[in-house]
Amino acid sequence: MKPEMTQDELKTLVGQAALQYVTPGSIVGVGTGSTVNKFIDALATMKGDILGAVSSSVASTERLRALGIKVFDATEVDELAVYIDGADEIDHAGNMIKGGGAALTREKIVAAQSRQFICIADESKLVTTLGAFPVPVEVIPMAAKRIARQFAAMGGVAQLRMKAGAPLVTDNGQHILDVTGLKIADPLGFESQVNQWPGVVTVGVFAFQKASVCLLGTAGGVKMLAF
Ligand code: 5RP
Repeated sequence: MKPEMTQDELKTLVGQAALQYVTPGSIVGVGTGSTVNKFIDALATMKGDILGAVSSSVASTERLRALGIKVFDATEVDELAVYIDGADEIDHAGNMIKGGGAALTREKIVAAQSRQFICIADESKLVTTLGAFPVPVEVIPMAAKRIARQFAAMGGVAQLRMKAGAPLVTDNGQHILDVTGLKIADPLGFESQVNQWPGVVTVGVFAFQKASVCLLGTAGGVKMLAF
């Protein structure tokens, strides 16, 4: 293994390693992001062996289709064996922060209909406590300011995510708040609490839908963490 592997090369490594979790004849749950793009590229090499994928975003759907992989609607499939996705942070128990690519809601939905969540990430994503990465929260626009005040009361600072000078609009037509200043010592408690706030569509802490396995790209190769 080259010690000087780039983050991009580590993403390729784990994207390819995730193929071992794909069973021939199955439909695969597919996440979103630059690491997942490497997985999608690898998945294309076995597209003749799988039925297709359920996708978590418009971007992933487009990439899957461009590579000739059939995309099923989530409603067409009862249960998926595996969901493969990246993370912005993952802790040593498999809890994650996700949503850096604004796809957190559909990611959580597809993860929830999958028996196993296989997280693929480079080693920079492994943390002791979640919260250094801003927590993405998808919100109904009319509730954004009040939700920001609720985070302020917890010691967080919520910022509306922008794109090209306007609020970013998600695949679901909603907005994203990115919340800094939080140390999430109790991911399950945090996710439960924020989920109750009116106007929150999805909080980007994945504790109920945590990873079962993480394939971590390190300078020494792919390390497998099981939770
Ligand atoms: C998208 C996500 C991604 O999985 C997360 O942002 C990691 O992305 P990348 O693989 O590009 O680092 O949650 O909503």
